[in-house]
Amino acid sequence: MRLRQKFIIIFLGAAAPLVVVNLLLLQGLSRTEALSNKIIEAEKARFSMLNLHMDLYRAFMPTHDYLISGEEEERKLYKQYRMDIEDKFRILRDVAERTPYIDVEGLTNMENHFKEVDKKALEILDLENPVGNPAGSKTMYEMDKHLEALIACANQCYAKTQEKVKETLQAIGEEERSITRNITYIVFTACLIAVALGAYSAHYVTRPLKDLCQAASHISQGDFWHRVNITTGDELEELSNSINKMNLLLKESFETLEAKVVQRTAALHDMVNKLERVFKQTVEAMAETVDQKSPWTFGHSRRVTQYAVTLGQRLGLKKEDLESLRTSALLHDIGKIGVPETIVDKEGPLTVEEQEVMQRHPRLGVNILSPIEAFGEILPTVLYHHENYDGTGYPQGLKGEEIPLLGRILRVADAYDAMRCDRPYRKGKDKDTTIEEIRADAGTIYDPHVVEALVEVVDKMEGS
Ligand SMILES: [Fe+2]
Repeated sequence: MRLRQKFIIIFLGAAAPLVVVNLLLLQGLSRTEALSNKIIEAEKARFSMLNLHMDLYRAFMPTHDYLISGEEEERKLYKQYRMDIEDKFRILRDVAERTPYIDVEGLTNMENHFKEVDKKALEILDLENPVGNPAGSKTMYEMDKHLEALIACANQCYAKTQEKVKETLQAIGEEERSITRNITYIVFTACLIAVALGAYSAHYVTRPLKDLCQAASHISQGDFWHRVNITTGDELEELSNSINKMNLLLKESFETLEAKVVQRTAALHDMVNKLERVFKQTVEAMAETVDQKSPWTFGHSRRVTQYAVTLGQRLGLKKEDLESLRTSALLHDIGKIGVPETIVDKEGPLTVEEQEVMQRHPRLGVNILSPIEAFGEILPTVLYHHENYDGTGYPQGLKGEEIPLLGRILRVADAYDAMRCDRPYRKGKDKDTTIEEIRADAGTIYDPHVVEALVEVVDKMEGS
């Protein structure tokens, strides 16, 4: 079923209870109007009965006055009143035929009594000499007797009318309350049905929309595995199917892309590893070249590197700093390539001029390495590996912690290996003597903390 049809059904479903309520309200109003007419009729009957009652009292006064005064006016007045009474009786008979408020038997008795009273009244009014006439008085007496019976009958009839009207009004009141109660129940029930139907319809329509919104949210966050399951058979189901297809395509594309990324990343890692190996081999080859410049320095760079790295580990250097220390230790004396072999291999102490040439090798090393970007980090260590802790070293005479830490470590490792190895002009010293001399220079030539670490790890260094 399409959405348009669903919305029409929902609208009709919500409108139906309201239509029923309106029809019931109209019916209730119609019934209320009928009850109002009934009330009016009852009141009219009671009023007519009361009116007759009053006319009866009034009608026979002129008869008495005629016997006293003999006035012709009294005769005319009675004849007018008796016509009014006959009119009232006609009205009451009409009401009695249409409604239950008039006691028909009582009304007939009243009419019969009225005829007797009227007959006597007319006899009185036909007297030519009414004043003081004994016959008139006697007739008057008889008329009053009938009149008394008529009034008693009228009272009884009026009381019955009153009772019936009262019963009718009570029944009407009860019925009106019942109608009001029923209308309230019906309106309340209809409202409940309309609200329940509206809530269910809203849920029925909005639940698929909510699912679609959640699917869009998942896709926007890269969750291409999410699926929407809508089986409403309308446009929303078609939309959910399209979203699922799109998500499937995105998932496949993503997986293909991911596989390619993994493949390319692995290739890059291989390449980086290869470059790192080439770089290390190149550095080691460069160090070997320097060491082979002189038979006295054979293996010097490799040993210094081992000592420096062991010291660096003892001092808690980070992995990156240890790697930088390793490279700079291998290449620390690369500047000696530019120092004549006659100076490097000279047997005996160097002259002042020769020392100046020899002391150029840190700066020469920096000049050799600086064009290569990968050696940028090690340049300070290479440059300052002959600086003394008290500022008496070269090439700049840096002091204390002005000297980079890697330079201070390399200074100790370099000195330890130089002192332990044979030189053209002296024999190498044993371990204890070397440690003793280095400890003696702690704080002047060497950083005391590095010397302290050397003492702690020297056995390990020698063993490695
Ligand atoms: Fe050096």
